[in-house]
Amino acid sequence: ALVVIGGLVGYTSYAWITARTDTVGKVNFTHALRIPPLAPSTVDPSGTRVFDLDLRSGTTDLGHGPNSETWGVNGSYLGPTVRVRRGEAVRMNVHNSLGETSTLHWHGMHLPAAMDGGPHQMVEPGATWSPQWMVNQPAATLWYHPHLHGATAEHVYRGIAGMFLIDDDSTRDLPDRYGIDDIPVIVQDKKFDGDQLDARSGIFADTGVLGDEILVNGTPGPYVDVTTQRVRLRLLNASNARVYNFGFSDGLGFTLVGTDGGLISKPVDLQNIQLSPGERAEIVVAVPSGTNPVLRSAPAQLGADFFNGRFAGAADSFDVLQLRAAAELEQSAPVPMSLAAPHDLGAPTVTRKFDLTSSTTINNRSMDMSRIDEVVTVGTTEVWEIANISGGVHNFHVHDVQFRVLDTDDPSLSGPKDTVYLPPGVTRRLLMRFTDFSDPTSPYMFHCHLLRHEDNGLMGQFVVVKPGETAVAPMHSHAGN
Ligand code: C2O
Ligand code: CU
Repeated sequence: ALVVIGGLVGYTSYAWITARTDTVGKVNFTHALRIPPLAPSTVDPSGTRVFDLDLRSGTTDLGHGPNSETWGVNGSYLGPTVRVRRGEAVRMNVHNSLGETSTLHWHGMHLPAAMDGGPHQMVEPGATWSPQWMVNQPAATLWYHPHLHGATAEHVYRGIAGMFLIDDDSTRDLPDRYGIDDIPVIVQDKKFDGDQLDARSGIFADTGVLGDEILVNGTPGPYVDVTTQRVRLRLLNASNARVYNFGFSDGLGFTLVGTDGGLISKPVDLQNIQLSPGERAEIVVAVPSGTNPVLRSAPAQLGADFFNGRFAGAADSFDVLQLRAAAELEQSAPVPMSLAAPHDLGAPTVTRKFDLTSSTTINNRSMDMSRIDEVVTVGTTEVWEIANISGGVHNFHVHDVQFRVLDTDDPSLSGPKDTVYLPPGVTRRLLMRFTDFSDPTSPYMFHCHLLRHEDNGLMGQFVVVKPGETAVAPMHSHAGN
């Protein structure tokens, strides 16, 4: 009967079986959480802050011995944390030491499309691509990852991803000592085949790979020592397909302070928060001294949604990270009552509709690198109405902008967002403003961030143009062009 249900909605039963058999739970917290190093930078004579990021392969001990073949940035797994201030000009020298073409995309960044690192900005083996732009957006937890069309899932799964933090003055009263009371938490589920990462088994599954082991910053069974009254955790779901519903053991609550694109206007106390692939949340936790609460993922709470759990692994429970609070904790400032001024996006003058019609199509069309799907006029505020009518699980990510989710009082959707979860049958209306960076030749992407879906075509392209301008055929760049 189970297979029949799978068949009815057009899925292989593979993802379902995976999701059921890997309802894990307990892990032993035996490894100190790895903290990705901060990426070193230099400032060139023009005042531009310059980072060197090298995509490479290597081997990493992910809990199955030292010989697991992995990819990383400036190292063998994941990449350094890039940290910049609003107002800085930055240049990223992205060098490709892999044996194959890739790209590096700045997820959540507001920047010119030609600098975005999407499928059109390919970096060939041995080449260096050097985008530069002015960082002009509020403090936020962004991230970077490859975006090569058809290969994003595999490249991210092998290990290329990292955090990209933006600071501004509004972060002053929150814990901000990196690795001490401000901790990156990059959560990924992995499957192993012997001592190797199993990147292939999900290739034929509709959802993509669902792992049965959780890594945080590449650490299996991680714990982190807490030495201050309050810690900020920057949660990033960098998994290919899995949805997490994060909370703590012992009924410990937390304070949500930020969403994908930055701080929310007022902190809100929560017991759990759900993140689909690509989404972020900044939370502040006051861990009682001498206690060891566990960050865990519980089954997603989405009402009577029948499909959710089995197809995005959201019915599973996982232990994620143990917090080990010292007997004496250094004092921390209380979380400010007000965090960020709500951003006024203006009144919408355009509405667009996007139906997620299958796991490979938007408005019944699959991604075509040479087709521009939407033409947006610079300076316009729009509503994008996304309806998931496909019967499966998706989310929706828009490049270049941070949007507001309309028609909801869910606090986890109250701040700036660039990715939103869309269980079957759900429609979301997203308010967004395209403030600048018109370029009729360079498209931005919108897509499902379940990476197998993105690779399989659940993606489209938009350009931002000046009034009256028309889009022209997208130009590729092959670094260093
Ligand atoms: Cu995080 Cu278009 O991607
Ligand atoms: Cu999808």
